[in-house]
Amino acid sequence: MTVTIVGSQLGDEGKGGVVDLYGDAADVVARYQGGDNAGHTVVHDGEKYKLSLVPSGAVRGKVGVLGNGCVVNPETLFDEIDTLRERDLEPDVRVAERAHVILPYHRALDGIEEAEKEELAAGTTKRGIGPTYEDKAGRRGVRVGDLLDPEILRERLEYVVPQKKALAEEVFDKETGEAFDIDYLYDTYREYGERLAEEDMTVDCGTFLQDRIDDGDNVMLEGAQGTSLDIDHGVYPYVTSSNPTAGGATVGTGLGPTVVGGGEVIGIVKAYLSRVGTGPLPTELGGVEDQTPDYDEEVGGGTDEEELATYIRDEGGEYGTVTGRPRRVGWLDMPMLRHAARANGFTGLAINHIDVLAGLDEVEVGHSYEFDTAEQSSASNQNSSNSDDGDEIFTMPPTTEQWGRCEATFRSFDGWPEVDWAEVASEGYEAIPENARTYLEYISDELDTPIYAVGVGPGRGETVVVENPYE
Ligand code: IMP
Ligand code: MG
Repeated sequence: MTVTIVGSQLGDEGKGGVVDLYGDAADVVARYQGGDNAGHTVVHDGEKYKLSLVPSGAVRGKVGVLGNGCVVNPETLFDEIDTLRERDLEPDVRVAERAHVILPYHRALDGIEEAEKEELAAGTTKRGIGPTYEDKAGRRGVRVGDLLDPEILRERLEYVVPQKKALAEEVFDKETGEAFDIDYLYDTYREYGERLAEEDMTVDCGTFLQDRIDDGDNVMLEGAQGTSLDIDHGVYPYVTSSNPTAGGATVGTGLGPTVVGGGEVIGIVKAYLSRVGTGPLPTELGGVEDQTPDYDEEVGGGTDEEELATYIRDEGGEYGTVTGRPRRVGWLDMPMLRHAARANGFTGLAINHIDVLAGLDEVEVGHSYEFDTAEQSSASNQNSSNSDDGDEIFTMPPTTEQWGRCEATFRSFDGWPEVDWAEVASEGYEAIPENARTYLEYISDELDTPIYAVGVGPGRGETVVVENPYE
């Protein structure tokens, strides 16, 4: 069977920990979208591993697959594999021949276009993710399978590279170097192809996974980022260029929707909100320069809200794994979660980081929204299908402009104390402080989805397991 792990918010919900926990019972862990924009930290035998592309299960002896929905930077892939080998691990990583390759010009263009976009910039990780998916949709991409065939590789590059070079030089007025040089790219990427072939790493992903399932293996499908960063269901244009939602698990692996839907889909929820990047965030606390819209540096420091934000940011270690950027933080946003529960069809929830909020007097939740009547502007002309001003809104509006006009209506919960979380994890759900359980059950009731696990700390053992989807 399959278990699909999906972020229900804006990424960094602690998916890695859940993959780790349930991954024990899995034989194969496959990623279905994204690339080396997804940072995850795995702690194994006291050692810390920072990965951005290789599926975390590979650290624990599982077969790790990068599905056809992924975009693969071979340089990152081999760097991560080599680093793991230097640390005496033997990661077994397979790459879909249908996956697209991130080339150096994609990275260069990601940076160039972000700078050009100004307020439309998503604050990308600059890993070339967007430009690679653009070329995939534009049918001018290079796929992993193409790296294995020098003639095809040459043909693809000869078509696409002059266009990219012209774009950089003539549209954006930038100088270009080897990242836009056909011969350099051909030599370098042909070598990557040779290495992929030598190590027998490429697969026909759907067939590979289906065969494993038919043999009785447990397969885990791991989404990167989160639902609100989904290109269709997220806060467009401040999104990533792929589908982290559960539908992506079928398209991005080649397993049928009935196979994925016949298994479990677990929504990973962080007990508060964090966001790397730009765009509105109705439950945001304080702000972060260059990411929070209209962030005022002068007002920034010193306020109570800002202090609370800093407290949560530091307690939760809310700094990007890949980029090191401070993350924006806020209270839980229930309309965002209702949207995620529907779009993904969650069968279970893993709620993480309740330990981070311990010690606060009260914990707030954005239960619903109302349109800010002061900001009627153009957005009021386009909300007719959705809601009238003054109505209570329970799910995310379809346009980001409307979402930006939403003001959260908060509910307050009594806080819970700092306790020995490792002990709580070993004792089970009932050992969680009562006020925290009230909070958890509110989330579960609102989303009409049972709780499968509760994350109470960063360590591997610090999760309360209520349900194991493979059992
Ligand atoms: P890209 O995926 O690098 O194109 O970035 C697009 C948006 O997704 C930006 O707002 C990023 O900050 C965000 N993003 C991409 N990957 C992650 C992630 O793994 N965690 C959190 N945010 C991410
Ligand atoms: Mg991450």
